[in-house]
Amino acid sequence: MDVDPHTPPTSATQLVDSFGRQHTDLRVSVTDRCNLRCGYCMPLEVFFKARSELLTYEEITRTVAVATRLGIRTVRLTGGEPLVRAELAELVGQLAAIPDLDEVALTTNGLLLAEQAAALARAGLARLNVSLDSVDPQRFGQIARRPGLERVLEGLAVARRCGFRKLRINAVSIRGLTEAEIVPLARFCREQQFHLRFIEFMPLDADAGWDESSVLTGSEVRAIVEAACGPLEPVPAGDRGQPAVDYRYADGGGLVGFIDPVSQPFCNRCDRLRLTADGQFRNCLFSTTEWDARAVLRGSGSDDDLARLLVNCVRAKRAAHGIGTTAFQRPARAMYQIGG
Ligand code: 5AD
Ligand code: SF4
Repeated sequence: MDVDPHTPPTSATQLVDSFGRQHTDLRVSVTDRCNLRCGYCMPLEVFFKARSELLTYEEITRTVAVATRLGIRTVRLTGGEPLVRAELAELVGQLAAIPDLDEVALTTNGLLLAEQAAALARAGLARLNVSLDSVDPQRFGQIARRPGLERVLEGLAVARRCGFRKLRINAVSIRGLTEAEIVPLARFCREQQFHLRFIEFMPLDADAGWDESSVLTGSEVRAIVEAACGPLEPVPAGDRGQPAVDYRYADGGGLVGFIDPVSQPFCNRCDRLRLTADGQFRNCLFSTTEWDARAVLRGSGSDDDLARLLVNCVRAKRAAHGIGTTAFQRPARAMYQIGG
């Protein structure tokens, strides 16, 4: 049931859904554009939204400030590729200045990181996740459908020099595509002390090529890593909201984690909400409904109107994504249009 439009939502309303899940993390996409064309995310030929459809940095900051009032504590900027949007560090600075927001993080493909890492660090960016599926230049180009490995590696090195200590690498696992990348990637990350996380392929590719048989599960990937790099020991989960299960190499040095949304869904402890680049709130990657924040922002709605919209979005959240069930419906948007 929607909240009464005359009641101002207070922090007491909170972002708790009908299954008791409290939401503290907001993923904000800043653009649908990207300088790569990974097949699991984007079509090769793609039509991007007009600039005027995207929220401005001021609109994003206002929305995040309202969400923070309701209990959001961490924001992660995503895309498309967030670093292709001009002056992203300015947005980071605006968000970092919001009282009560604990952390601003960024997920990037790393291509533009060498140029921007210093400004991002100065602006107050707390964490950096870099998507990287292969450390072989040819294979990188096949998966991303554009070249760029060298620039990503340089971006990682520069980011570290700029003070980003806990760098995380995300790699998507797809049967028949990424098996040969797993061990070289694991060795590289171990050597460089990057925290590597493998993510199962989700039905969010633009070309609708996903099917269950293309999901290379986290446990299969783990077996491949263990066969080459030795046994892994589970690390006790610190933060319940974290979807990843992390392991440590038994002979010391390095963490490797697995995010298994398909084989081990973690919807029951999901604490995430999303804001798309064109200003729509979503309560799940797999939402088939959206709540139009842009209409409120551009229709001279109040902060309370925005807050009520987000509360209603949370109230409507379903128990689970239901991938693998007959009721599952693919969302109309692909990953690049939602934001990782
Ligand atoms: N399945 C799983 N992960 C995906 N990503 C993009 N598309 C998919 C998909 N279909 C990942 C990217 C990046 C993050 C934003 O989401 O690799 O790490
Ligand atoms: Fe771009 Fe990331 Fe999508 Fe690849 S996964 S096309 S890098 S937004």
